[in-house]
Amino acid sequence: MENERIVPMERRHLDELAQLEKICFSHPWSRDGLEEELGRPGSLFLVAEAPDGQVMGYVGCQYVLDEGYITNVAVFPQYRRQGAAKALLETLEQEGRRLGLSFLSLEVRESNASAQNLYEKSGYRQEGRRKNFYTDPREDGLILTKRFKQEEVR
Ligand SMILES: CC(C)(COP(=O)(O)OP(=O)(O)OC[C@H]1O[C@@H](n2cnc3c(N)ncnc32)[C@H](O)[C@@H]1OP(=O)(O)O)[C@@H](O)C(=O)NCCC(=O)NCCS
Repeated sequence: MENERIVPMERRHLDELAQLEKICFSHPWSRDGLEEELGRPGSLFLVAEAPDGQVMGYVGCQYVLDEGYITNVAVFPQYRRQGAAKALLETLEQEGRRLGLSFLSLEVRESNASAQNLYEKSGYRQEGRRKNFYTDPREDGLILTKRFKQEEVR
């Protein structure tokens, strides 16, 4: 099924990723915001590319000490349900373990069933809720976390 190639985010991806953010979110990350993540310590952003080099989607994570926080997950509509997001999360997890992280955590809208399915399938479990975390529309955020067992952390 190896449909995608997972690579670190680079400058050449930024225009498409800013476009993707606009398509997906009411408060999209800007191109400048994404650009600031390039090479920033504690930043781990990965892009899934189709065989023809087109951006399929991406995942972003910011980490401090052994804590990883996923800030961005999105896939272009025409590339959805092909395993790109799952592959991005798997590669992020491998990188996170290599970096010695103890867990990866994220927020997701309570109504976002497709993303919740993805995270559940990838081993994330609900550990809390942030009341009215989101606006436009206002909604609670579920806190989902995947903890790495100590013996699994290198
Ligand atoms: C959520 C999102 C990232 C999933 O990307 P994707 O590449 O289509 O996901 P995958 O193909 O890797 O799906 C993996 C699993 O997630 C679940 N899933 C993904 N999309 C789903 C949908 N629309 N409905 C139900 N389950 C879904 C399924 O269990 C799927 O496995 P399956 O296809 O074998 O059934 C994508 O729909 C998206 O970009 N949505 C808009 C942005 C967003 O909501 N981001 C998350 C913010 S927290």
